[in-house]
Amino acid sequence: MCGIVGYVGPQDAAPILIEGLGRLEYRGYDSAGVAIGSKAGLKVRKVSGRVADLAAELPARFKGSPGIGHTRWATHGEPTPENAHPHTDMAGRIAVVHNGIIENADELRAKLAADGVEFTSQTDTETVAHLVAAAFQSGAADLEQAVRQALRQVVGAYGLAVLDVEHPDRIVVARNGSPVLLGVGEKEMFVASDVAALIGYTRQVVYLDDGELATITPNGYRTFTLDDRSTAKSPSTIDWDVVGAEIGDNAHFLIKEINEQPRTIERALRGRLDERFDTAHLGGLNLTVREAREIRRVKILGCGTACYAGELGAQLIEDLARVPATSEAASEFRYRNPVVEPDTLYVAVSQSGETIDTLAAVQELQRKGGRVIGIVNVVGSTIARQVDGGIYLHAGPEMSVAATKSFTSTVVAFALLALHLGRIRDLSPSEGRRIIAGLNALPAQVTEILEQEATIAEVAKEIAQSNSVMFVGRRRGWPVAREGAQKLKEVSYVHAEAYPSAELKHGPLALISPEMPTVAVVPDDDLLDKNTSTLSEIKARKGPVVALAHRELPAELADRTIVVPRNEPELDSVLLSIPLQLLAYHAAVALGRDVDKPRNLAKSVTVE
Ligand code: G6P
Repeated sequence: MCGIVGYVGPQDAAPILIEGLGRLEYRGYDSAGVAIGSKAGLKVRKVSGRVADLAAELPARFKGSPGIGHTRWATHGEPTPENAHPHTDMAGRIAVVHNGIIENADELRAKLAADGVEFTSQTDTETVAHLVAAAFQSGAADLEQAVRQALRQVVGAYGLAVLDVEHPDRIVVARNGSPVLLGVGEKEMFVASDVAALIGYTRQVVYLDDGELATITPNGYRTFTLDDRSTAKSPSTIDWDVVGAEIGDNAHFLIKEINEQPRTIERALRGRLDERFDTAHLGGLNLTVREAREIRRVKILGCGTACYAGELGAQLIEDLARVPATSEAASEFRYRNPVVEPDTLYVAVSQSGETIDTLAAVQELQRKGGRVIGIVNVVGSTIARQVDGGIYLHAGPEMSVAATKSFTSTVVAFALLALHLGRIRDLSPSEGRRIIAGLNALPAQVTEILEQEATIAEVAKEIAQSNSVMFVGRRRGWPVAREGAQKLKEVSYVHAEAYPSAELKHGPLALISPEMPTVAVVPDDDLLDKNTSTLSEIKARKGPVVALAHRELPAELADRTIVVPRNEPELDSVLLSIPLQLLAYHAAVALGRDVDKPRNLAKSVTVE
């Protein structure tokens, strides 16, 4: 939820911190701050608001190195400048930035206060700065030792970076439950909570594991544990380019990412289709054919959009592999002492690979001996490293809080998994060929839909006038409707509800009126009659209808039809979801919303 950046080296840290924080702002954006260790002492600047506000506040003389910075999404305490990070000790020697939650903060605060410490914020993080200072007072020889001593008293989750003006050649960082990685440069070193912050500076990164600390100096790094055992680590190379993370000529990241989908779908497919055996190759699954054949059930876990993509994934697996499959919110699953079965394949879905509820579900599964694979976008992320195998999306950085390209790429990844599981069971070669042809057709068909943006924007303007919008769909159209409603509420704040079409008459039909439009997913499949009778029910109550369909629907069924090209029935949902993304985007624009950074939300939710 919050972002950390740090720099040590010959350059001035501030511009590097500001740029890195800007790239991390999607993780949290209600306050920001930086601290620089200079010969004249510690310099700290904090603001409530955005990174741009912080940059505007920095005086020209805010120079020096090392430096640490933070962008925050408030958990403990209001988003005020006092509560923004970095937090310092009373002497103004130590500065700390922190992601996560220190669970025994109240206890630590009371103990420190009894020793005469005066707190300047309401945060849990401030305790760490005082604990490090106290460690020096009680004789810690260097910063590493002081941080280790401090952290031994801390219970909870953290990714943190500590700067000490008395040790201006270094930053000490630690990870326990919240990601921290090091960036290796030429005679300079970086630290960040997320690779996005380092794009443009280095591609050589070192991921820390839980329980690990590191010291970075201009000349390199050393990793070690709380009890000071060295852990040798070598850097890995990241392959994301700067362009992927830049907004370019686009008004928002959201529309840029929606428009990227023909290419991101292509990337999800690249090298994975085997036209000789009409199947899919997924190198990272780490499942032998025999193991894959022994799977009796598939259980998919994710949060928000990832969970809805999982619902489509479950249907694809049932359709193509005839293996029973379900998707569930990881946040629910982890708390209900789930029954874990040895012949179930568990699939964790996460764009960021950092969502705490999904990670906790994975850990609970693994503790009980479950086999878990991941469908993840961010290479090297915590979930990607935790699972037993998986499929990377290769969708490039997704910067907008609302997920779009990661949703369609996840569904495509599930189609590949379903094809693979199907072809080692009873899916015939000709059926396999049909799905491969459908997958190959997707990018051009997505482009066709994107060309209708202007028409969809018109519909969105009308939708934006409503207080509430109903989304309905049946079978594969149901997760599409859920995701459509989710997108609309996330970015436009227009209330939206999603219901399976057949459930409408069991309650929500009472809401239908001329003031409440319905967006209906109506593919031209074997359920078309059922779907059109739902539309008649809505029209009979004078509810306006916007239909997503494969051909123009008559006026007595729909006031507007958005016509989407037809693919194979199993894959149509990828295409049907694209107009709903555009609808949400243009409704948000029409209402003047902060499209990429919706209120109260963060891109990756790494705290409970
Ligand atoms: C947050 C975001 C959602 C996202 C969900 C899961 O709630 O606001 O857009 O779908 O997390 O994120 P993940 O990175 O695990 O896919």
